Amino acid sequence: MSKTVPVLTIDGPSGSGKGTIARRVAEALGWHLLDSGALYRLVGLAAAQRGMSDAPPSELAAMARGLVIRFLTDEDGNERILLDSRDVTGELRTEECGRLASAVAVLPEIREALQAVQHGFRKPPGLVADGRDMGTHIFPDAQLKVYLTASAEERAKRRHKQLKDKGIGVSLAALSRDIEDRDRRDSERSVAPLRPAADARVLDSSKLTIDDVTRTVLEWARETYAAG
Ligand code: C5P
Repeated sequence: MSKTVPVLTIDGPSGSGKGTIARRVAEALGWHLLDSGALYRLVGLAAAQRGMSDAPPSELAAMARGLVIRFLTDEDGNERILLDSRDVTGELRTEECGRLASAVAVLPEIREALQAVQHGFRKPPGLVADGRDMGTHIFPDAQLKVYLTASAEERAKRRHKQLKDKGIGVSLAALSRDIEDRDRRDSERSVAPLRPAADARVLDSSKLTIDDVTRTVLEWARETYAAG
């Protein structure tokens, strides 16, 4: 990892909008993007598909190190994620895969195995890293750390709308429960719990549009990297 390459981290709970914001900010800056949640989803999915969900953590970590993962953009500009040459983009975004990810994410062996993979994304001209522990653990030297949040109610509503737009019917109450459970698991785990870094700038997006949040983060980025 080259420590001279600038990094901007965006951490926060699920549904805070950080995936969308990270993508927009990376595009605007012309920087690389790391979607670290996708890595945990890939490990959870691969473990389930191979019947290894209950395997010892050391075996899971060995499997995680051996996965061949590719992030591509198709001709329509959509992201495609390949696992061992198979397109798993659709499967990765399901609630079920989120649960599988969150289950493997509590294992220190898995977090350790994915650390080097994540550092590998730090390449010139810069990196926008989206996740839960980007600013606290993976890139503690990032010059700008954003912690993006929103109320649990607002996050459940956003997720509900996203799924409805895709024709998937799920009750809002069930989604709220799921989001609260996942928040609890992510913030109470002993390794790399979800929390803002001491030097993070916290932004509550509950009452803001995607454009508002993107603009704010880009202003902070201009101040930070122009000064640096
Ligand atoms: O962000 P996304 O919903 O794709 O993440 C899926 C799960 O992966 C999270 O709920 C969390 O348990 C785990 N994760 C993590 N650390 C990260 C990114 C994701 O533990 N940096």
